[in-house]
Amino acid sequence: MKVTSLIFISLVSIATVNACTDVNATAGAGGVCFCNPGYYGTSTDVTAGGSCQECPLGTNFVQATVSGTTISSCICNDKNTVLNSGNTACQCKANFYGTANNAAGVASGCTAYPTYATSPAGSTVLASCTCPYTNAVLNAGNTACQCKANFYGTPTTSGVGGCTACQTNATSAADSTTLVSCTCPDINAALNAGNTACQCKANFYGTPTTNGASGCTTCPTGTNSSAGTTSIASCACPDTNASLNTATPPVCQCNANFYGTPTTSGANGCTACAQGQTAPAGSTTNVCKAASTSSTYILPIVSLVFSLVMLI
Ligand SMILES: *[C@@H]1O[C@H](CO)[C@@H](O)[C@H](O)[C@H]1NC(C)=O
Ligand SMILES: *[C@@H]1O[C@H](CO)[C@@H](O)[C@H](O)[C@H]1NC(C)=O
Ligand SMILES: *[C@@H]1O[C@H](CO)[C@@H](O)[C@H](O)[C@H]1NC(C)=O
Ligand SMILES: *[C@@H]1O[C@H](CO)[C@@H](O)[C@H](O)[C@H]1NC(C)=O
Repeated sequence: MKVTSLIFISLVSIATVNACTDVNATAGAGGVCFCNPGYYGTSTDVTAGGSCQECPLGTNFVQATVSGTTISSCICNDKNTVLNSGNTACQCKANFYGTANNAAGVASGCTAYPTYATSPAGSTVLASCTCPYTNAVLNAGNTACQCKANFYGTPTTSGVGGCTACQTNATSAADSTTLVSCTCPDINAALNAGNTACQCKANFYGTPTTNGASGCTTCPTGTNSSAGTTSIASCACPDTNASLNTATPPVCQCNANFYGTPTTSGANGCTACAQGQTAPAGSTTNVCKAASTSSTYILPIVSLVFSLVMLI
C-alpha cells in the first residue's frame, strides 16, 4: 500500500511539474511557455527579460496560445465596457452609462442611453449623455432632445429643418417647436412686419435688447416715430415746419425762416417769414428780417449768366 501510494504521488508530481521558469507561464504546444490565463505578455522562457503581466481588474484572458500577447487580449468581463485609456480598469463604453460589473458571468453594470442621445466612454450617469442634434439640448428629465433656448423646431442631426434661431433680438424658451414661440423680450419692442426681427415700437427709438433692460427709449416729448426707428433724430415733430433742436432733451422748434410755437397735433404752429425775409431756427416771435443784399442781387445775376450759358 505504502509503496503504491508513493509511486502514485510521484507520478502526479511529475505530471504537474511546470516546464517553465516563468511562474506566470505554462508550457503549451511544442513546449512553448505561454502566459497563463489572466496574464498577457511574453514569458521569460521565450524572451530573456520578458514577463507575463496580470490582466487589469475586471478583465479576463484565456490561456494564451501565442507568445507576445498584448493588454488588448485582456477582455472586460462586462460586455458593455472597454478598458480605460490607462488600461487600469473597465469603464462603460460609448453610449452606455453606469459602473462596470467586474465579475464574470453577471449582468452588465452599464445601461444603454436612450436612442436619441450619445455619450463618451466612461460615462457614469444618465445626465452625461448629450443630444447629437444641432442646437438641441436634453430636456430636464433626460427623456428626449429638444431645441435649446432661442431656437424653435424639432431637432435633426444635420440641423437642416431642425432647430432654427429665433428672429434677430427675439428669444424663446427651450423646447419651443414653432416660430410663434419666439417673442421680443424688450418690453418696448415688437416683431417687424416681415417677422424677421424685433424693433422698437412706435414712439420709441433705439435697438432692442434681450437682457431685460429696454434698449428702446421714448421719443422726446411732443415727437413721435414709426416702429423700427433707431435714432433720436428720426423722432419727428408732428408740426412739419418744426424740427428737434440740440438741447438735452431736445425739443421741437420752428425751422429756419419760420417763427412761432410748434404744435403737437400737426396743425400749423410755425408761420413762414414774409417773402425775402429770413429768421434763425427756433424763432418764437416774428424776428424775420430782409435777407442781405448780396443774396438778393447776386443770385439773380448768377441765374441769368447760367441761363445764357445753357442757351449757348
Ligand atoms: C507573476 O504574477 C504576479 C501577480 O501578478 C506578480 O506579482 C509577479 O511579479 C509575476 N511574476 C513574474 C516573474 O513576472
Ligand atoms: C440684436 O441683434 C443684433 C443683430 O443680430 C446683434 O448684433 C445684437 O447683439 C442683438 N442684441 C442683443 C441684445 O441680443
Ligand atoms: C406723428 O403724429 C402726427 C399727428 O398725429 C401724425 O400726422 C404723424 O403721422 C405721426 N408720425 C408718425 C411717424 O407716427
Ligand atoms: C409748413 O409751411 C408751409 C409753407 O409755409 C405751409 O404751406 C404748410 O402748410 C406748413 N405746414 C404746417 C403743418 O404748418
